[in-house]
Amino acid sequence: MPHRTMYPLALIALFAASVRGQGAAWSQCMCLTFHPDVPSCRSKGWSGSTTCVTGSTCTACLPGSATTTVATTTTSTPPVSTPATTTSTATGPSGTCTSNSPKSRTGTLQLVGVNIAGFDFGCNTDGSCTASAAYPPLTQYYGKDGKGQMTHFVNDDGYNVFRLPVGWQFLTNNVLGGPINQTNLAEYDALVQTCLATGASCIINIHNYARWNGGIIGQGGPTNAQFAATWSAIATMYKDTPKVIFGVMNEPHDIPDINLWAGSVQAAVTAIRNAGATTQMILLPGNDWTSGAAFISNGSGDALKKVVNPDGSVTNLVFDVHQYLDVDNANLGWEPLTQWLRCNGRQAFNTETGGGNTASCITYMCQQIAYQAQNSDVILGYVGWAAGNFDVSYVLSELPAGSGTNWTDTTLVAQCMAPKAGAQQGSTS
Ligand SMILES: *[C@@H]1O[C@H](CO)[C@@H](O)[C@H](O)[C@H]1NC(C)=O
Ligand SMILES: *[C@@H]1O[C@H](CO)[C@@H](O)[C@H](O)[C@H]1NC(C)=O
Ligand SMILES: *[C@@H]1O[C@H](CO)[C@@H](O)[C@H](O)[C@H]1NC(C)=O
Repeated sequence: MPHRTMYPLALIALFAASVRGQGAAWSQCMCLTFHPDVPSCRSKGWSGSTTCVTGSTCTACLPGSATTTVATTTTSTPPVSTPATTTSTATGPSGTCTSNSPKSRTGTLQLVGVNIAGFDFGCNTDGSCTASAAYPPLTQYYGKDGKGQMTHFVNDDGYNVFRLPVGWQFLTNNVLGGPINQTNLAEYDALVQTCLATGASCIINIHNYARWNGGIIGQGGPTNAQFAATWSAIATMYKDTPKVIFGVMNEPHDIPDINLWAGSVQAAVTAIRNAGATTQMILLPGNDWTSGAAFISNGSGDALKKVVNPDGSVTNLVFDVHQYLDVDNANLGWEPLTQWLRCNGRQAFNTETGGGNTASCITYMCQQIAYQAQNSDVILGYVGWAAGNFDVSYVLSELPAGSGTNWTDTTLVAQCMAPKAGAQQGSTS
């Protein structure tokens, strides 16, 4: 569409920044501790300055950082965090679990991939999205070569899943509760079909932070029925496509009532299943920007575990978590989650993680991947943030450089995130 050709690169970069809720001034610092009062530190830990607020510490995981409070060396063998003891007993947060014995530690993650961003551009953390700012990462819509990127990621790197974020307003062309706009859906479907053609699984993700223009779904904003109607329409379209995964919502945050939110997620699940998509995986997102570290402590787990399929089962209902490298403990914040998942017989999928192309990020990312692989009985895999339409200067860019069939990955992707890098082989099983 012509309007898309008119976006100067700087504006695109601005949209990209707003997607993440971060200021344009990327700079030195990453908050090592989650800090809910600082917008840019809420889920990613990026403070955008050289100092962090009280309660956080600054760590060097960004290009150009001068401050180093963490190891900056990388080794050819990624450091492997010690997994939880396989023999001790533990009491789960719900008080019902007494075992943290993994079923397996095979070191093999089922799903590993990259976010292909663009259709979410123009979306803000209050759930407002400028529909016309959605920017398809496909050359036929004047975007970047998402097809080339995904083909490279599958063929050269061994990736097998892509997450394709899209704004809710784009899907309905700004009409809350309205039908899916077929013109816009056709553009988005072009990306889905391009993804599917690589042989990968493809996550459809509504990127609205549990909101529409400031109102929270089921809690003063859109009704559960309006949310479910959108999912029903999408599921109808993809009900016969086994490799489509339904990512119900990106990064809910500041949800007043987590149990009401679980009801909204239940409405989406019921709509998807009743539309005929009876077998595909559905990803259930918790509060706190889908934080994996806060999933148990803040009640998302206990609320969302009650979400069921129409037959009462929880088959292929997987918890959606995001886990960057900003949590200060030995297992990067994972341990309460993996223990709880095991106790409850459930699984989670880390659909956003990433970092800069620095030695410290490489060290910690390799460590996180090894941890996930060691816990692959409960962690399905991870999806890096992000490729697609970002500018290569974006600090979290995972865009490969190149064209056609000749692509070169970023350092973080090449050394850690791509399955071919072998970071998963740190398994001690
Ligand atoms: C669908 O959205 C496009 C903008 O992409 C708009 O021009 C068109 O009028 C919409 N169609 C309907 C039926 O609302
Ligand atoms: C827990 O959830 C509440 C309600 O959304 C939120 O205000 C609070 O910041 C969250 N706490 C943490 C530690 O994430
Ligand atoms: C691939 O691209 C790199 C970097 O641009 C270039 O040096 C190399 O010659 C290219 N290889 C082929 C086979 O085109």
